[in-house]
Amino acid sequence: MQVVISPTKEDATELAAKIIADRIRNFPDSTLGLATGVTMERLYDVLVRMHKQEGLDFSLVRTFNLDEYIGLLPENKHSYRYYMNERLFKRINIDIRNTFLPNGMAQDLKLECQKYEKKIKDVGGIDLQLLGIGKAGHIGFNEPLSALRSRTRDKSLTPVTIAQNSPLFDKPEDMPKRALTMGIGTILEAKQLLMLVTGRSKAEILSKAVEGPITSMISASAIQLHEHCVVVVDEDAAECLQGKDYYHWIFQNEPEWEKYR
Ligand code: F6R
Repeated sequence: MQVVISPTKEDATELAAKIIADRIRNFPDSTLGLATGVTMERLYDVLVRMHKQEGLDFSLVRTFNLDEYIGLLPENKHSYRYYMNERLFKRINIDIRNTFLPNGMAQDLKLECQKYEKKIKDVGGIDLQLLGIGKAGHIGFNEPLSALRSRTRDKSLTPVTIAQNSPLFDKPEDMPKRALTMGIGTILEAKQLLMLVTGRSKAEILSKAVEGPITSMISASAIQLHEHCVVVVDEDAAECLQGKDYYHWIFQNEPEWEKYR
């Protein structure tokens, strides 16, 4: 795992966007795994800017999102389909038919999850999976006690996640308490993982995920098992990290990372 510490959340976000843009420029028909949440809002703004100003071309890109709430229509402004359409898909030249999220309105949720897994397999898997981390240590909505080999399925959300996300709803009590989410096993099958974490409020959980034991109580710790995983963080989020060998964006000078400047 490579950890890159950037001075500010803006620098960290730019770097993460450049890693994604690099992938798309080198492999225009890439399959991206996407995430939602407050952290990713900034990232999608940067990708939109790169599309508009630098001609970053999404026309052949395919996307699979990590998760979706159960019971929200795509038109509901709190659904992740709505979030993705408004924050990214409508603002770039992606073919909307190539964008996939689990359908949280499906009659048969189990079947929907199986179909989602099959769709990912049928296109040859995810090339680059973007991840955030929740205060409960989740990736996607893999709440504590998610099996490390889990597949796409429905999960009950824990009080920590409900406290994190419900303020984003007009009426906090309307936040669904269940969601469909790719499993940890699904996520680990992506060819590359890119985690973006910013802010002091994530510092403790980030250090547990990156430096603590691998445990189903902190599903993000499973990324330690992946052989091609980059974790991009700002200094606030890095505050509790102990490791001495992480790459510091401001004062180091390694060709692997310098190319992104
Ligand atoms: C959402 C997702 C979640 C978020 C995490 C962080 O699709 O995958 O794991 O990445 O909850 O969310 P923010 O950025 O809002 O703190």
